[in-house]
Amino acid sequence: MIRFIFFLFPILLYGGSDLYSEGKKLYFAKGCNGCHGVSAGGSSQYPPLAYRRKPFLAHKLKEYRAKRGATQQAQMMIPFAMGLSDREIDALTTFLSDYRENKSTYRPDFSIKGDGGS
Ligand code: HEC
Repeated sequence: MIRFIFFLFPILLYGGSDLYSEGKKLYFAKGCNGCHGVSAGGSSQYPPLAYRRKPFLAHKLKEYRAKRGATQQAQMMIPFAMGLSDREIDALTTFLSDYRENKSTYRPDFSIKGDGGS
């Protein structure tokens, strides 16, 4: 029994849900909520991030981090993506794609002017 608990402990500590809460902390600590909203639902000027595909989100963040942004809108993202490590991108995109916070304030808004760079 004791052995079983020791076996479970690291899984609980380093399991997927931990990456999720790390991403959640980062989302607010890095100020992402300032533009993309407290429930990552975006607004008329900022794309929604919650529930979107992790590989897409990670790809975009890595593009911004590499300072590749074709549009003026994308230029806005570059300073926020520049300091992110791969691990932080992994955590942020896990949080966003698995999003399971209170959904009541989520306002999906895909009526963005232009294509939102996507
Ligand atoms: C100053 C406002 C601002 C802040 C703060 C900000 N973003 Fe953005 N973000 C934008 C804008 C504007 C775009 C659309 C850029 C484009 O058209 O390519 C965007 C696009 C994105 C995209 C691509 C979505 C898509 O549909 O193309 C991701 C992913 C993203 N942001 C994640 C983040 C994360 C994670 C943070 C925090 C580290 C963050 N953003 C902070 C303004 C912001």
